[in-house]
Amino acid sequence: MRIYDIISRKRDGFELTDEEIHFFIDGYVKGEIQDYHASALLMAIYLKGMSDREMVTLTLEMAKSGDMLDLSAIDGVTADKHSTGGVGDKTTLIVTPIVASLGAKVAKMSGRGLGHTGGTVDKLESIEGFDVALSPERFIETVKKTGICVVGQTGNLAPADKKLYALRDATATVGCMPLIASSIMSKKLAAGSQCIVLDVKYGSGAFMKTTDDAEELSTKMVEIGKMAGRKMAAVISDMDTPLGKNIGNTLEIIEAVETLKGKGSEDLREVSLTLASELISLVKGIDYHEARQLCEKALDDGSAYEKFLEFISAQGGNTEQIIDTDNLPKAKIIHNVIAKENGYISKTDAEKIGSASVVLGAGRVNKEDSIDYTAGIILHKKTGDRIKAGDVIAEFHTNDEKLIAPAEKVFFDALTVSESKPVESELIYKVIR
Ligand code: URA
Repeated sequence: MRIYDIISRKRDGFELTDEEIHFFIDGYVKGEIQDYHASALLMAIYLKGMSDREMVTLTLEMAKSGDMLDLSAIDGVTADKHSTGGVGDKTTLIVTPIVASLGAKVAKMSGRGLGHTGGTVDKLESIEGFDVALSPERFIETVKKTGICVVGQTGNLAPADKKLYALRDATATVGCMPLIASSIMSKKLAAGSQCIVLDVKYGSGAFMKTTDDAEELSTKMVEIGKMAGRKMAAVISDMDTPLGKNIGNTLEIIEAVETLKGKGSEDLREVSLTLASELISLVKGIDYHEARQLCEKALDDGSAYEKFLEFISAQGGNTEQIIDTDNLPKAKIIHNVIAKENGYISKTDAEKIGSASVVLGAGRVNKEDSIDYTAGIILHKKTGDRIKAGDVIAEFHTNDEKLIAPAEKVFFDALTVSESKPVESELIYKVIR
């Protein structure tokens, strides 16, 4: 078999065989197939697409290219939740203790923030002592004991995806539905859980800008997961506007704890409860409404909050910072952002708000950059709210005075103010099961 022939077959619109896809992934990971061949094949896939069978085979080959986590030592049903990424998205911190308090076993690998989006691992690391780098043995032991463990992704999880994603980034082949679906699902399948709920975001702060694209991606990923024997659901949720009101690592821990104590923003509570209920429905084999009642009870009676404390403690985190979030470190400077005009906020562009938060120090531009855990933004007003000139519409938290002016520029660029109240977008657009 020759990679040259595989490229030309895909270029001419033929379906690749399972053997050809195996040959490509195996050879590319081993370094026997060069980047220029892989780039040409990716572009051919981008232009000609893939059948469902090709996409499933590609996903499984990428999943098998490195470590496949073995969760069989864990008694009970394993559950995972994945978001395609957003701004202010701290739902993992709320969903995982809800479902673990109801008996699901959450063995989760999470990522760090990059660009305008945040990452769960950074948020958890903003808690003093919290360890995201447990050994595989401690990872499994912690899930067995507390029902949750969240660690950073190991270096050898789906290495084919790691290599191919970097190449796609450099060759204008990222925005291709079968390649995105196989990239995300290869990591989820390698991470081993039996039940997987995907939170597929749409809108300005998301990878998928339209509901149609989000639906197509969701359908493909659910299909792949089911064909690989997993129980799947995908929730398509709005990321045109940041989720909740706090953006930034420590600030998001504070808002997650508020939500677990019954005081969080309504949109954050709703998305978290929807995701948790879909997961519990899969884990327990019950319908959504029954699962929803269980999840609401777990959130409202404090059992999810108690589970969260147990989870933080099991991974070495200082629970005094959770019991009273005033014990978390704070930024030295809190700057009030003042409205310049009267009207309704008709748009809060999530990507730009995320970028303003990165300017304040909360995120990374390059992978190796360090971040300021205490930096970020608290939104006092969001899309749909009426504002008057002089109102405090947001707080900037930062440790560097010089960052305020550039962050304000990006922030105001994100806002559109209009005379009439905008039509509300749908927080949960659809669920694909
Ligand atoms: N996230 C991924 O992990 N892969 C993609 O291709 C796009 C988003």
